[in-house]
Amino acid sequence: MSEQLLPQAQTQNREAGQSPALEIRIENLYKSFGRRSVLDGINLEVHRGEMIAIVGGSGNGKSTLLRLIIGLDRPDRGGVLVANHESVGSPLVDLSTLNATGMESLERHWAVVFQSNALLSGRTVGYNIALPLREVQDLDESTVRRRVSEVVREVALDPDKDLDLSTDQLSGGMAKRVAIARALALDPILLFYDEPTTGLDPEVAGQIQHLMGSVHQSKSASGLARTTLVITHDKDLLYRLQPRIIMLDAGRIFFDGTYEAFSQSNSPVIRPYFELMPKLHQRLNGPVDPPEKQTPS
Ligand SMILES: Nc1ncnc2c1ncn2[C@@H]1O[C@H](COP(=O)(O)OP(=O)(O)OP(=O)(O)O)[C@@H](O)[C@H]1O
Ligand SMILES: [Mg+2]
Repeated sequence: MSEQLLPQAQTQNREAGQSPALEIRIENLYKSFGRRSVLDGINLEVHRGEMIAIVGGSGNGKSTLLRLIIGLDRPDRGGVLVANHESVGSPLVDLSTLNATGMESLERHWAVVFQSNALLSGRTVGYNIALPLREVQDLDESTVRRRVSEVVREVALDPDKDLDLSTDQLSGGMAKRVAIARALALDPILLFYDEPTTGLDPEVAGQIQHLMGSVHQSKSASGLARTTLVITHDKDLLYRLQPRIIMLDAGRIFFDGTYEAFSQSNSPVIRPYFELMPKLHQRLNGPVDPPEKQTPS
């Protein structure tokens, strides 16, 4: 297997015996669609600087949880509280109490890399990366251009060649780099990825994992460590980035711990999923049928 990229970063806080500031607190979260209960009492605390991977079989509510955390959807019960980086040292803010302006002030410090990349079709790479800088951050044109070139270099694309490419011409790996560059341009303190490597071949997936590791380790302009939350079925990503792993099953958090504990678990829920991960990782983008139930051996 390839080398681990972040083993130390994840242990530093634990060894120092400190408890870094909370970025997200999820309290007793419930969500159903019609009669289907998807999240059934989720409690979770995410500390600043952590990299967290949310795993679990298809249909277990990972993307639903992400949508609730970033305020794209509302829970039926329970709350999502997040750090307010506009006002350093203030208490966590409950998303349900915010109006649109309040939400925007939190979102200014977040970036989301969607599974589909959500790039505008028929537009150039440069246009896509610049758009949130123009619309969200309202920067002047020369600052926008400089920032776009910087982040394009950071994701190992070439500003002289690649900025004018249409997003329709990009390979899967390049499109993912562009989506990460667009996220990075916003200098996020909280970074969310939904299945960033699904459908990519192993070499390209490895490059994206590497990029995610270096983005995570780079500090934001405010000097704060970045916090990364990634939904994934990619076993290699878990091994290389050594995130704290949260496994969802039957609407609950079934596992919360290290890669080592996860990979060595003989739990009849974890083991079959761990074995199935390469197959789920290879699926093409978009929803798939849930994996067949496996009988634990
Ligand atoms: N807007 C919606 N309306 C109705 N049902 C929904 C909606 N969003 C999600 N669901 C259902 O909720 C369940 C969880 O979906 P979700 O997309 O969160 O799963 P997931 O863990 O992300 O799966 P995958 O690994 O396939 O991406 C699924 O049964 C899905 O069909
Ligand atoms: Mg999903």
